Amino acid sequence: MVRKRPLVVVTRKLPEVIETRMMELFDARLNDTDEPMERAALAAALASADVLVPTVTDRIDAELIAGAGENMKLIASFGTGTDHIDIAAARTKGIAVTNTPGVLTEDTADMAMALILAAARRLSEGERLVRAGAWRGWAPVSMLGKRIHGKRLGIVGMGRIGSALARRARGFGLSIHYHNRRRIHPDAEAELEATWWASLDQMLARMDIVSINCPHTPATFHLLSARRLRLLQPHAVLVNTSRGEVIDEAVLIELLTTGKLAAAGLDVYEHEPVVPAKLLALDNVVLLPHMGSATIEGRIAMGEKVIINIKTFADGHRPPDRVIEAP
Ligand code: 8YV
Repeated sequence: MVRKRPLVVVTRKLPEVIETRMMELFDARLNDTDEPMERAALAAALASADVLVPTVTDRIDAELIAGAGENMKLIASFGTGTDHIDIAAARTKGIAVTNTPGVLTEDTADMAMALILAAARRLSEGERLVRAGAWRGWAPVSMLGKRIHGKRLGIVGMGRIGSALARRARGFGLSIHYHNRRRIHPDAEAELEATWWASLDQMLARMDIVSINCPHTPATFHLLSARRLRLLQPHAVLVNTSRGEVIDEAVLIELLTTGKLAAAGLDVYEHEPVVPAKLLALDNVVLLPHMGSATIEGRIAMGEKVIINIKTFADGHRPPDRVIEAP
């Protein structure tokens, strides 16, 4: 008997090699225009397809999942974070969810390191000055940033990306501190000469640079709350390559505006793709368009993971990157 190819709806444009392979393996419906799908189109896809391949730009909430059809059995997300999908609702409905962990670790850690350097050394400001034709030549006290060598970096969330950032940061002469729900293995801690802080509050109050590297879950929403943000030292630099929702963005803007926090490097925002006008108006921030994992190699590896997850599932096996509900 010839097995029916699963009907796979892909919500956004993916690298060509991935789309071509998907066409070979599945009854794939691609999105050539790359326009994010409207809610109605997502609902129609969930109602009719066997597999949905969404990205971070698709909010797959409980209501959409409740309307999924009989055939819908797998949401194979293109990305690591799964906060855009109601995992509990999917489980109740008998729909499996997979993601693409591991393949964007190094790229995202590179971007976190780049943001640390850019925010501390005022890279964007300097570039804006040159491009505006406003640079009048070298001067001893112009464009002075903050040295990062010898400073303390506090990593919030010491998972794959946090650890990869720690390895890079060591090369730049930073001392590594971290807060994680669970302390990492003593060997890993020793290798990174990392200091674990059971108390996030205590760590935040002592760091020169803080990097957010934990996922966004109900437990980490506004983990950097107004109260915790106010614990940061005025000379501190904050970078975020995780999810905007982990930081209370309005308070962050207030602290950056009033000089209670020196600088920030942000790749993610609380209400993407909206970047508040007050943030755009600040000079002491480096603002990127959620591009932490945006390398061609990374995107292809993510696509390959999606394909493997769908193929193993369609063949009746357990897909390797099954997502379990957050505790
Ligand atoms: C992805 C990300 O590009 O994988 C993640 O969690 O944040 C991004 O780097 C995006 O989520 C793709 O859906």
